[in-house]
Amino acid sequence: MQSQKPIGIFDSGIGGLTLASQISNLLPAENILYFGDTAHLPYGDKSTAAIQAYSVRISQFLLDRGVKAILIACNSASAAAYELVREYVGNKALVFNVIDSVVDHLATEYAGKKVGLIGTKQTVNSDIFGRKVAGTGAGIELKSLATPLLAPMIEEGFFNNKISLNIIEEYLRNPEFDQISSIILACTHYPLIAAQIDSYFEGKVDIVDSSRIVARQVQASLKEAGLLNTGTEGRREFFVSDYTAAFENATQIFFGGKVSLQHFPLWD
Ligand code: DGL
Repeated sequence: MQSQKPIGIFDSGIGGLTLASQISNLLPAENILYFGDTAHLPYGDKSTAAIQAYSVRISQFLLDRGVKAILIACNSASAAAYELVREYVGNKALVFNVIDSVVDHLATEYAGKKVGLIGTKQTVNSDIFGRKVAGTGAGIELKSLATPLLAPMIEEGFFNNKISLNIIEEYLRNPEFDQISSIILACTHYPLIAAQIDSYFEGKVDIVDSSRIVARQVQASLKEAGLLNTGTEGRREFFVSDYTAAFENATQIFFGGKVSLQHFPLWD
């Protein structure tokens, strides 16, 4: 049965587990196959060409395991490689990114308003959100800021403490963010600092957590395609291209529970 095939989810590392966790909470019957390219982390500082090559190779790994859908759970890879992956995968599986559904959400909820965005250098410099938001014609004024310190900071376990608050404040104090109505967390790691961002803005700015929006889009699209798994508790497997105990320990931060990582050296 097509619907029983897994959903393949990939990210530059383990940050995409925030989205895998949303998917498994929303769709507990789905089988999930996760691949974190820890050998090449971080993607946020890599060239477009490098991210495209990694993304295509990982997509093939997932296709070889018979996935029904591929979710690019990384903003940097979605920015650099979504079109290419979609072309490469063709009609073998559905392909999702973490950008389009967020742009649709903005057009519906924040038309005519000023919106902030934080993400990696790759995501922000690609201006993919800027171009797609402009394409909606919703009159949104988007202000994007690269915040490259945040992902490594969170990965080291620095969130909800004074150090993280200082760094977050330093970035968000940027005058470009004056009078924004909402801020998009355009990086897989940032849901973990949503509470500190919210308190910085004193609850006056909406925090757009893309992982929730994307999980709902995946659910709706699978349903529409007749591919929703209606079975019982799904199987979950987690692969990384480079294994360390530190990665495995850090999965707890992102998944909300410990995950057993399997090493799959894709690049040998
Ligand atoms: N997963 C990346 C993203 O969402 C953040 C970490 C990285 O730079 O690889 O953009």
